[in-house]
Amino acid sequence: MKSSLEIPQHWTFRSRAVAKHFDQHVRESLPWYDLATNAVAHFGRHYIPRNGVVYDIGASTGNIGLALKETLIQRQARFFAVEESREMADRYEGPPQLVVADAVSYDYKPFDFAVCFLVLMFLPVDTRASFLRRLQGLTKPGGALLIVDKVQMPPGYVGTAFSRLTLQQKLAVGAKPDDILRKELSLAGYQRPLDPLMLPKAARTFFQVGEFIGWILAAPER
Ligand SMILES: C[S@@+](CC[C@H](N)C(=O)[O-])C[C@H]1O[C@@H](n2cnc3c(N)ncnc32)[C@H](O)[C@@H]1O
Repeated sequence: MKSSLEIPQHWTFRSRAVAKHFDQHVRESLPWYDLATNAVAHFGRHYIPRNGVVYDIGASTGNIGLALKETLIQRQARFFAVEESREMADRYEGPPQLVVADAVSYDYKPFDFAVCFLVLMFLPVDTRASFLRRLQGLTKPGGALLIVDKVQMPPGYVGTAFSRLTLQQKLAVGAKPDDILRKELSLAGYQRPLDPLMLPKAARTFFQVGEFIGWILAAPER
């Protein structure tokens, strides 16, 4: 049984202990984490042009930047990682440039490729729809916005089965039942799954495991 993290009673990323164990903890919690990261890198190769502008929004320790690194170098792209927690930023190992700022109020330039990987569920609910609209408006023609997030489940038994899949998968990779339970309760009020109807109709699903979905929102070419 693994245990990598002291779970705070009220979840926060503004914690040295959480930041220190984040990379291991996220892989114990989400067994598909590296698979979905690879998919983001794949789309990056398709949508980052030469001299392009790229954002990693809610960058944590730099997972997405590291996955995109080869493409960023090859295309001589300008990369910005946005992360609000100083404690996470201190552990950042992705490519420059890291900006410590609130992603919602940050002043983005128009971009070719932006990634929100497991961050929207932590943003205040009343900011999400307008934030998504703003990002959509900032996507350059031919560019794309990628989102991977936890979503609200459908009502009824099927929703129960989806939620239990998440629990089952955590146990399968060795997370301790006690840790799973304490983390779930710790997240109350801070992690709130996304309403999938918030996504524009043009968003295409490229990934789904139970409650977690990945979408690509490609901008029109003209
Ligand atoms: C689950 S982690 C994201 C994982 C990361 N994208 C990865 O690929 O490993 C969520 C991150 O979003 C950050 N975050 C939450 N709210 C934010 C905000 N308003 N602005 C910027 N970052 C935020 C948290 O501090 C945390 O580092």
